[in-house]
Amino acid sequence: MKISILTLFPEMFDGFINTSIIKRAIENKKVEIELINFREYTNDPHGKVDDTPYGGGAGMVLSCQPIFDCVEKIKTKDSKVILLTPSGKQYKQKMAYDLSNEKHLIIICGHYEGFDDRIESLADYLISIGDYVLTGGEVPSMVLADSIIRLIPGVINERSHIEDSFNENYLLDYPTYTKPDDFRGMKVPEVLLSGNHQKINEWRYNESVKRTKERRPDLLD
Ligand code: ADE
Repeated sequence: MKISILTLFPEMFDGFINTSIIKRAIENKKVEIELINFREYTNDPHGKVDDTPYGGGAGMVLSCQPIFDCVEKIKTKDSKVILLTPSGKQYKQKMAYDLSNEKHLIIICGHYEGFDDRIESLADYLISIGDYVLTGGEVPSMVLADSIIRLIPGVINERSHIEDSFNENYLLDYPTYTKPDDFRGMKVPEVLLSGNHQKINEWRYNESVKRTKERRPDLLD
C-alpha cells in the first residue's frame, strides 16, 4: 500500500515514520509513505496557499489551486482521497479495516481556519477523528495511517488485532497482566495463573463485557 500525505508541515512526520512498527513496516516494504508539501504546487509567486474568506471572518482559508493541482498530479485509478476535517464522518475501526484493503490513499491535511469548500469535491471520504478541533490534519493523518498500517498483513502479529477492542464484536479488551503476580498488594486474578484455558477464555470474555458495560455502554446498543 502507498499513502500520500499532503501537508504544509512534512517535518511533523519525522518521528512517526522513523520509529518502531511504522519504521519497520516501511523498511519491509509493507507500506510506502510519501509526504508532499502542497506549497510546492502553488502558482502564487510568493508561495501563498491560502487567502481571506469571502463574506469576512477570522483567519485564512486554504485555496483550491495548490491542492487540486497536487491531487490531480498524483491520483491514479487505484487512489482513494481522504480529506481530514472536524466536520467529517467519525472515524471508526471498521473504516480502518476497509481502508487497509486499498492500494493508494491520498490524505489531505487541512490547516489554519479551514479550507475552501470546493476542495471537498476531490474527496472520496471526509473523516473526523473525534469531536474536538485540532490545529490541523497532521495528527489526524498519523492516527489514520497508524491504525491502517498495523492491519496490513505481516506488520504485526495478526492475533493482536483479532483480539483488539472495537473489532467486530464491539467489546473493549479484557485486562492483561505480566510479572510479578503481586505488585504492592495488587494481585493478578487467580484464574490467569490456573493454566485452565477454557476458564481463562470465559473469564476474559466476561471481563470484556463488564468493562464495556461500565465504560462504553453505547457500544452494546
Ligand atoms: N482537523 C482539525 N481537527 C480535526 C479532527 N478532529 N479530525 C480530523 N481533522 C481535523
